[in-house]
Order: sequence, then structure tokens, then C-alpha cells
Amino acid sequence: PVVVVDFGAQYAQLIARRVREANVYSEIVPHTATVDQILARKPAAIILSGGPSSVYAEDAPTVDPALFEAGVPVLGICYGFQAMARALGGTVARTGRSEYGGTSVAVAHAGELLQGSPAQQGVWMSHGDAVHEAPEGFEVLATSPGSPVAAFEDRDRRLYGMQWHPEVKHSPMGQRALENFLYDGARVRPDWNPGNVIADQVAAIRAQVGDARVICGLSGGVDSSVAAALVQRAVGDQLTCVFVDHGLLRAGEAEQVETDFVAATGVQLKVVDARERFLTALAGVSDPETKRKIIGREFIRVFEQAAREVVEDAGEHGAEVKFLVQGTLYPDVVESGGGEGAANIKSHHNVGGLPDDLQFSLVEPLRTLFKDEVRAVGLELGVPESIVWRQPFPGPGLGIRIVGEVTAERLEVLRAADSIARAELTRAGLDREIWQCPVVLLGDVRSVGVQGDGRTYGHPIVLRPVSSEDAMTADWTRLPYEVLATISTRITNEVPEVNRVVLDVTSKPPGTIEWE
Ligand code: XMP
Repeated sequence: PVVVVDFGAQYAQLIARRVREANVYSEIVPHTATVDQILARKPAAIILSGGPSSVYAEDAPTVDPALFEAGVPVLGICYGFQAMARALGGTVARTGRSEYGGTSVAVAHAGELLQGSPAQQGVWMSHGDAVHEAPEGFEVLATSPGSPVAAFEDRDRRLYGMQWHPEVKHSPMGQRALENFLYDGARVRPDWNPGNVIADQVAAIRAQVGDARVICGLSGGVDSSVAAALVQRAVGDQLTCVFVDHGLLRAGEAEQVETDFVAATGVQLKVVDARERFLTALAGVSDPETKRKIIGREFIRVFEQAAREVVEDAGEHGAEVKFLVQGTLYPDVVESGGGEGAANIKSHHNVGGLPDDLQFSLVEPLRTLFKDEVRAVGLELGVPESIVWRQPFPGPGLGIRIVGEVTAERLEVLRAADSIARAELTRAGLDREIWQCPVVLLGDVRSVGVQGDGRTYGHPIVLRPVSSEDAMTADWTRLPYEVLATISTRITNEVPEVNRVVLDVTSKPPGTIEWE
């Protein structure tokens, strides 16, 4: 792989993704990894990421100069560039002139790294310190107003570096520079793609599972569906999926899992109809946190019971259920320490926890993948597009999109309104532009309206379209007025209980994406 050493900013994941977009497999290690640990991964190349520190700060992470003597090509970016310059005897100093955001660099000599670059180019920077003198043996490729040395290379030793961030879209020639490093500098072949993962994972799953039985909790979301499809491809009917229908799904979603997903993948599915049970447990409850706890608790109980039944059935047929499939993705692995083994894994909220007397080992076939790659794998495996492209949807479902008590009638109203909003957003081609659009029913609020000749006293529906990269922060999406108008007219005409549609124009923070 290409190993990306993470110096602590959010850029390492982005770099790793860009490398993969160049069809080269990448992995991330923390900067605390030793040279031996890094080399143990047999890297084809190493990239040192940017980071928040100044190389002069007391506890600033450093690079062990031994890393540059291993004969492995290295690219330093931003902080990684400075740390590299310093480790090899160059000088890094405060310039008194920070460069943040768009900057123009002058390319004096393109060398290998900047082949194809215009002599003057816009790039995205974020630094206070700068490299003043390149280490011996290096050729200076570019300069900027705040960086006497903005990029350099030593072709003999195959060491490269740049002050700007090639991984961000605001550096238009960035991907080209990364590819120059990968293909020419490091001479790696662009032969990786997410589809390759399928064959490797199928083999790995077979080796791990043997002839034991496997269980998987399906939520209808992208990750659990693709993970299940992959395990099914590997071990067929040794896998049983459990789908708990808690009655808090949107229109058509249960059918997507029970009919479309099964038809497309051949997965063996156990459906538990727990709709009544959830409604009963939620009766009379309005407090959001209490609702979440009840839904979580009931979910675990129902899933436990179903898992037991699968285990018992399997026992009758002489096989043991030893494995549980989880749709853990690479960002979860990196964020929880990047270690190997199951100890670091976050508990997945779709399967909130498992009973002590059911011991499973985890099968996590998506552990090395980013979300967009999971989607590519899903499409390749024939998972229906309606699932592969599904926007995030919370585990507690519509239960936390009804402000006030959750009742069967209110769920029907919300489902009808939500399905209109979704249909119109899809028709307007906006699905991939918005991160998600919760549709919320204010069950405890009524307002006066007029329809035909009569006064109405109905409930408002809130539209909450948001744009986001990771759901940690979000902005409200500026939807075209015509689309909003169509959604509003259709909902108020077609859903009799609703006489008003309002738009949530709050970013996150201070608002959260969901209302509860
Ligand atoms: P908030 O409302 O905290 O939501 O801004 C951030 C993202 O998380 C989703 N979400 C959940 N997902 N179980 C989930 O699987 C949950 O309990 C849950 N609560 C919120 C929400 O839809 C958004 O994408």
C-alpha cells in the first residue's frame, strides 16, 4: 500500500481517498508509528500529511530521519513537508507572513512532481512556518509570497515535498501532483479499485468463517446491506440476516429490504414484525431522550430474541453460529486508533449491543473502505440503487421525527408527507446535492388554516434539508423556491392533517440535523 502518516489534522483521510482515486490502495497510520512499524506494511510509497502543529512547538511530532533512508519514496505535504525538510537538514522558520486559503505559487522548475503545471498556479495553503532552505541534494521547484521553498524534490532519493495541500479541491492541479508522485516518483501501478476488494474479501471471509454460520443485523442502510451482500457472496446460505421492522421506517423502506434486496442478492432473511411492540412501548411518551432509549432498548431485545432463534435453528442442523457481520467503515477504524483486531471497534448503533451469553466474533468486510467505495462495491454486487444511494437515516427512524407522542396515525401522516418531499427532491435531481432532508411532524403543534370554505386546525410539517460533509457540522441547503413550492402544495393538498409546511433555516451548530 501507500502509507499515509497522519500528523493530526483531518487531511490524512482526504489524502488516503485521493490516492485511492488514483487507483492506488492506501492506508493511514498515526505519526506515533515507528519507522519499523511503517516499513512492516511494505509501503510502495509514504506520504506525510499536514497537521496543526508548528515544527517548533514543544511537543511537535517529528519524523525519524531513518524513514528517508529506507529507499521508499516519500512525499511530504504541508506540516509533513516542513518536518521532512527539518529532519534532512533544511531550515524552517517563521516568516511572519502566514498563508491561509487560496495562494498563488510560481513554478520555477516543474521537475517530476509538478509536471504539467502552469508556471503560475492557484493552490490552497494553511501554514505559519515556511521552509527557507531546502536540504542538500534537493531542487527547489516552486515559491510563493510566504514560502521561499514551496515545493522541492530529490529525484535520486525519490523524496518530494510541497507546502500546499494537493488533496483539497481548491488546489486544481493537486490530484495531478499526487499522481506524478505516485506514478513517476514512486512508480506504483494504478491497478487498485474498490471492485478488487470483492475477490479479496470473499476469500478472506471464507478463510475466517470456515463452515460456521454467520448472522447479520440489516437496517436497510448502505453499510449493513453491502456488508451482508459481500458475506452472502462469500458463504451463501451460511449467512442469515435479521431485519427488525420497528414500524418507524419511511414509506417503501421495509419492502426495499424484504423484497428488492433479497431478490438482488439472494440473502436468507429473517424478518421480525415488531411494529405493534414498538408502538406499545412508545405510547404516551413525548420526551426525545426517553423515546430514543425505549427504541434502542426494544431494538436490542427483539434482535437478541431473533439471534437466539437463528442460533437454535442452526444448532438443530448441526452448525454453530459463531460470527456477526458489522458494517464498520475505514473512518471508524482510523478514528478509534487504527489498530488491528476487534478491541478498538465502536459498537455499531444498528446493533446496539448483544447479550452476554451470545458470543460472536466479528466479520467486518468493509473495514478498509471509505463510504464512496462501499457504494461502488454495493453497485458491483448488485445491491439496488435505492439502498446504495440512500441518504443517512437515523436508527430510531421516524420515532424522533415526530415531535410529541408517536402514534400509528401520526406515523401515517409523516410517512405520506416524507414520501412526497423525497419524490420531489429526487425529481428535481437534488438527491446527491443534499446530505439528507429530515421531514418532521410537529405533532403537538396546531395552527389555523383555511381550505375550501372551511377553517382547518392542522399540524405543521418541517423540511430540514442540510448540506454536510460528515454530519458533524451542516448548513441548511438553499433549495430552489420552485421545488419548495411544489413540495408545500403537494403536502398540504394530499395530506389532509397537514395545513402548513415550514422550512428550517438553521445551521449545525447551533441546531442539530434531527429535531430530537
Ligand atoms: P444530529 O441530529 O445529531 O445527527 O445532527 C447527525 C447525523 O446522525 C444521524 N443520527 C443517527 N443515526 N442513530 C443513527 O444511526 C441515531 O440514533 C441517530 N441520531 C441521529 C442523523 O440522521 C444525522 O445524519
